[in-house]
Amino acid sequence: MGDYLTEEIVEALRGGDLVALPTETVYGLAANALDPVAVKKIFAVKGRPFIDPLIVHAFDLTQVEELAFLTDIVYKLADKFWPGPLTLVLRKRPVVPDIVTAGLGSVAIRIPKHPIFREFLAASKLPLAAPSANPFGYLSPTEARHVEKTLGSKVKYIVDGGGCSIGFESTILSLIDPDRPEILRPGPITAEDLGQVFGFKPSYATASVDDRGGAQVSPGLLKSHYSPRTVLKLFDSDGISCFGEEGRKALVFVKRPQKSQELQEIEETETCKIFWLSENGNLNEVGKNLFSLLERLDGQGFDCIFVEIVEEQGIGIAINDRLRRAASK
Ligand code: TXA
Ligand code: MG
Repeated sequence: MGDYLTEEIVEALRGGDLVALPTETVYGLAANALDPVAVKKIFAVKGRPFIDPLIVHAFDLTQVEELAFLTDIVYKLADKFWPGPLTLVLRKRPVVPDIVTAGLGSVAIRIPKHPIFREFLAASKLPLAAPSANPFGYLSPTEARHVEKTLGSKVKYIVDGGGCSIGFESTILSLIDPDRPEILRPGPITAEDLGQVFGFKPSYATASVDDRGGAQVSPGLLKSHYSPRTVLKLFDSDGISCFGEEGRKALVFVKRPQKSQELQEIEETETCKIFWLSENGNLNEVGKNLFSLLERLDGQGFDCIFVEIVEEQGIGIAINDRLRRAASK
């Protein structure tokens, strides 16, 4: 981790090495998407199964056109949401190696917004395959030190771009069925946002929001994911009674609890510590702090972390999706 010359990193990428780079959502572990040997290293370093396809990051639409077949709606979506936290699943061109797409005929692509990631896309002129830069199944990294801590021994280049402004992963929208766009993973771009382009709200693939017992619609969207090592349990605003458990507990509220109300029955003690994800319940702030707070608490020897779920609307749908997967072990 540290200061690198752009040229050094570009050389590393061209030579088939991995580089951890910040995006506006989470840190990504990037490799030349057109080099199967380089891409294979991503799977090895993360401990990720080959059935879980990667997202390819492109600099602009011209590069996207080289990787996939685009329909009119892609240009409309790109106009409104790219660069940004929207990933589109499109019919792939043969140039994209099978290892990137887990052998599927489709490829997931996004044009990211983060200036540092864009700098390397521009300088290398390569499309970059990049999953989140965490060990498979663990919390996604939103700061360079998170990557350093979990993958630092395996990844030579970790570029520090500070904290990620969004803090959770892009929305994934499948356009494979032209008549039925489907949200495979809820994210920062909501169904309502997408509805402004489609004229109707695209539906959620059932398994992406709540896959209890459901069939897996998208490869890699697992019921258990984004998990701290500590046991994580969820509560909602009227579920405070669930805290009667033994051991050291962390209680994480959506907003700073008011002394007079929420804290009447729950006093902070040696065994019960209180935290919050935002001052006032602002969901952007909650999203930005979500993984970093869980990461911090995960190292503090709690027996259980209790987290309050947010209101199930807007980006709250994506935040709760991550929380449910984190709690599902
Ligand atoms: O914000 C993000 O999307 C971050 C940053 C680094 O860009 N990346 C990210 O990648 O979250 P990852 O690997 O953690 O998630 C990729 C997921 C896969 O697990 C899978 O569910 C979906 O994208 N995916 C990729 N290719 C697909 C395809 N061809 N069809 C359906 N789903 C696909
Ligand atoms: Mg991930």
